[in-house]
Amino acid sequence: MNAAVAPLTLTKDLLTGMEWNPAQVRELLHLAADVKAHPDRYRGALAGRFLALIFEKPSLRTRVTFEVGISSLGGASVFLDHTESKLGQRESIPDVAKNLERWVQGIVARTFTQESIDALAENACVPVINALSDRYHPCQALSDFFTLEERFGGLRGLKVAYVGDGNNVCHSLLSIGARAGAHLRIATPPGYDSDPAVVSEAKRTARETRGKVEICNSPQEAVAGAQAIYTDVWTSMGQEEELAAREAAFAGYQVNAALFAQAAPDAVFMHCLPAHRGSEVSADVIDSPSSIVFDQAENRLHMQKAILLTLLN
Ligand code: CP
Ligand code: NVA
Repeated sequence: MNAAVAPLTLTKDLLTGMEWNPAQVRELLHLAADVKAHPDRYRGALAGRFLALIFEKPSLRTRVTFEVGISSLGGASVFLDHTESKLGQRESIPDVAKNLERWVQGIVARTFTQESIDALAENACVPVINALSDRYHPCQALSDFFTLEERFGGLRGLKVAYVGDGNNVCHSLLSIGARAGAHLRIATPPGYDSDPAVVSEAKRTARETRGKVEICNSPQEAVAGAQAIYTDVWTSMGQEEELAAREAAFAGYQVNAALFAQAAPDAVFMHCLPAHRGSEVSADVIDSPSSIVFDQAENRLHMQKAILLTLLN
């Protein structure tokens, strides 16, 4: 491989995003930029390597970007569709892990519970990458801060507001944003806040990076002067039975033109997708020139290639 940026040696797995320190996140952002600018330098970097992709939930972006990313690095993937049968049903997760490690050099897993991903990592000697769990979506947040860095030229002190559910995406924005030194303001409805342990960890990390983490219930307070406004679905995969209660609780939390107008003049709109126009975001905001949702989607590819290079080399 003729790479300008040498891949780092980090922890074996990417399970939460919190296993990487601020300097390591910074180097990963740097590698992703190089992978995007010079994809040819990395062709063949995963030649002869195989990855298992285990998905218990549907996916467009994560599945396609991992499959395309692995192939473009010269590797190959095997997709294990667990959307009909839960992982661990036919045989235990430790046994699945102990089989897979004999055949493949890495595992990418999207599961209902974080415990399932942790169990894969504990029982497989090959790297395990979290492709979304109920608690975290680290590949998403790493790609999102890469997208913000491209847009604004830096992340330190960047005001990023998140309005909506204190969910997996919010948790990862907190932990990666704190590592990047961003100024995060989170507004969730009462009862739908982020896990206090994730918030405390982010606050501790932000003290190191001179970032900031502020938590409130007011969308207006969160977005005032923000350079990015981020939202996600009100009902995540696996919470479908709570749909009606959630629609009611989140009614005042839509990112619409009136709310967006309170952000900074150069503010961007962000969403991990899939989005529900008319619920968490109005169509005029997500389809406006300020929206960078498809840049975020594109950057999943480049960032995940950087993650694969880092963990598999
Ligand atoms: N944002 C994201 O992870 O999209 P998918 O669910 O389509 O993979
Ligand atoms: N919070 C959403 C993110 C989808 C990418 C979910 O978990 O369904």
